[in-house]
Amino acid sequence: MNNAAMDMEPTKSWNIRLVDLTLGYEDKVILDRINASMPGGKITVILGGSGGGKSTLLRHLVGLRKPLSGKIMLDKYDLFELSDKSFRALRRRMGMLFQDGALLGSLSLADNVGLPLKEHTGLSEKTIAEVVQYNLDLVGLADYGDYYPNELSGGMRKRAGLARAMITSPPILLCDEPTSGLDPINAAQMDALLVSLKKQNPDMTIVVVSHDIESLYTIADHVMVLNNGGIAYNGSMEDLKQTKDPFLRRFLDRNTIYEETREDLRFAMRPETRNKVQNALDAWLDKG
Ligand SMILES: Nc1ncnc2c1ncn2[C@@H]1O[C@H](COP(=O)(O)OP(=O)(O)OP(=O)(O)O)[C@@H](O)[C@H]1O
Ligand SMILES: [Mg+2]
Repeated sequence: MNNAAMDMEPTKSWNIRLVDLTLGYEDKVILDRINASMPGGKITVILGGSGGGKSTLLRHLVGLRKPLSGKIMLDKYDLFELSDKSFRALRRRMGMLFQDGALLGSLSLADNVGLPLKEHTGLSEKTIAEVVQYNLDLVGLADYGDYYPNELSGGMRKRAGLARAMITSPPILLCDEPTSGLDPINAAQMDALLVSLKKQNPDMTIVVVSHDIESLYTIADHVMVLNNGGIAYNGSMEDLKQTKDPFLRRFLDRNTIYEETREDLRFAMRPETRNKVQNALDAWLDKG
C-alpha cells in the first residue's frame, strides 16, 4: 500500500529519547548536548527557569525546528533522518498545545478545533462537528464554538488549543504550559483532564512543560529539569520527591524559593540608598 504510515510498524507506546542533543537558534546554543528519555505511556513534566529552553525543546520534538546536532529518537525512529514522507507520517502522530494556544484568529473556535480533521481526513462536516463538540465539552468550552479567539480569555484560548491538539487522538501529546494563565479551579480541571486523558489512553505519551508545582504533583510520572543548558534531573517523580539536592528542592518547595528571594531582596539595596530614597519620598508626599 502506498501509504507512508504503513512504512511504520505499529508501536504500542512511543518512547522519546534525546541523544547528545544540541538545540539553539542560529549560533546561539540553548541546550547543549543533552541526553535524556521520556518514557512511553507516561506523563513527563519538563521544569526549568523562564528562558531555559523548554518551549524550544518542544518545538524541536514536534519537528518544527532542526537540532544543531544530535538526535531525537521517537521510539526507534530518528526524527530528522526520516524521509519526508515518514517525517510527515510521524508528525501526524503528535498533537501540540502551544504556550499561547496558537489559534487562527480568522476562524471560530469550532473551526479551529476541527481543522486537523477537516484538513487531513475525509470525514463529513456533520461527523467533524460532533467530534468538535465532544472535545470542546471536554475542555469546558461547550458553549463557545461560535466565538472567535479574540473574544476569549487567555485561559479559554489555551483550553481550545488543547481541544485541537487532542482531536486526532495522537499517541504523543505535547503541552506547553497548559495551566499558566488559568485560575486555580480551571488549572485543577486542566490537570484532571490530562490525567483522565491518560487513563483513557494508557499508551499515550504526554509531555507537559509547566511551572506549576501543584500540577507537577498531580500529573507527573516522570520529570525532566532543565538548568543552564543542561539536564539537572531526568527520572521518576517518586525519586524526585525524595531528593535532597538543594537546586531540585527549590523546584519542589515553593517556600524555599520565597525565603531565598526575601534574603536576596534584603541585600539588594544599600541602607544609605534606601534612606535617601525614603527621605526624598517623604519630602514629596509632605509637599504642599
Ligand atoms: N525564535 C527564536 N529566535 C532566537 N532565539 C529564541 C527564539 N525563541 C526563543 N529564543 C531564545 O531561546 C531561549 C529559550 O527560550 P524558550 O522560549 O525555549 O524558553 P522557555 O524555557 O520556554 O521559557 P518560558 O518559561 O518563559 O516560556 C531564550 O533565551 C529565548 O530568547
Ligand atoms: Mg516557554
